[in-house]
Amino acid sequence: MAVDLSAFPRVPLGHWPTPIDDCPRLSAALGGPRVLVKRDDVGGIGAGGNKLRKLEFLLGAALADGADTVVTFGAVQSNHGRQTAAACARLGLRCELVLTRSVPRAGEAYERSGNIALDRLYGATVHLCADDADTAETYRRVIDTAATDGRTVATFPVGGSSPLGVLGYVAATVELFAQLDSLGLEVHRLVVPVGSAGTAAGVALAVDLLGRNVIVDGGCVSHTAEESLADIRRLAAASAELMGRPAPALDRLRTTDRAVGPGYGIPTDQVWDALRLFARTEAITLDPVYTGKAAAAFIDQVRAGEITAAETVVFLHTGGLPGLFAYAPELADRLNSRG
Ligand SMILES: Cc1ncc(COP(=O)(O)O)c(C=O)c1O
Repeated sequence: MAVDLSAFPRVPLGHWPTPIDDCPRLSAALGGPRVLVKRDDVGGIGAGGNKLRKLEFLLGAALADGADTVVTFGAVQSNHGRQTAAACARLGLRCELVLTRSVPRAGEAYERSGNIALDRLYGATVHLCADDADTAETYRRVIDTAATDGRTVATFPVGGSSPLGVLGYVAATVELFAQLDSLGLEVHRLVVPVGSAGTAAGVALAVDLLGRNVIVDGGCVSHTAEESLADIRRLAAASAELMGRPAPALDRLRTTDRAVGPGYGIPTDQVWDALRLFARTEAITLDPVYTGKAAAAFIDQVRAGEITAAETVVFLHTGGLPGLFAYAPELADRLNSRG
């Protein structure tokens, strides 16, 4: 069935379609399957990444509502925060990032490099908060100040994962299948990182709306497989409702938390190994928080024989490169100790 998103206001922030890379050296290193990487990490403003897709819809609505200020949330090294800052710079909007020290990492690289350095470069006001209570209090203060100044605020949730933001990945998945069809490629599985779940929700919803017979394989980066599945289902149903469609069945949606490790933002050996493999076979740079975890889960499934050599898999690269530099000391240690 055709998917029509033309009723939703949208601002262009990316260079679409993003490329698809065939990855023969990675496929060979894994002993099959054939791996294709959809490069949502390249193209677009602010160093690119998956949030631009969501922000096209979120900011389209915000501008239609007359917003002049955007407030959003995330961890200190939020890619979503950085892309929101970049999009606001492009559109001449004020951007307030309320960032929480939710990851047990400190030091110069984590606190001042990577995404947070770019947030400031793009002109965002960064509010660093100690915990959830501080975050709630800071948000109240930001909103009160905006009201006193007579500004109109649009607030976006963590990861831009509202039902409207999810439409960005409905559009991305329509784009992906148009590319695969024109290349004459049949795929069996889409591998997607799952954090706040909006990306996977959009992919899963579009697969359902388009009636495609592929597995949507969510690699969790923070929550359990069950929690992530519930988040994806809830968001996909809410987005379908926005589109005037019934809730999708999503019967080929899976999630795995086998690579989450000790928690969000804490990379394991498995994750560093995944970064090394993608880098040294295809010169594709993953990040240690999202794509590295999804890749680690994918590699583990291949090695366990749960994904066979007969499959063709699209790995959705959702970006996050700036975040790698926040982990530069750890990366250097890993490369020194493990080659
Ligand atoms: C690079 C990267 N990949 C994947 C994700 C996960 O996307 P979602 O939050 O929509 O599940 C994020 C979210 O912040 C991200 O920054």
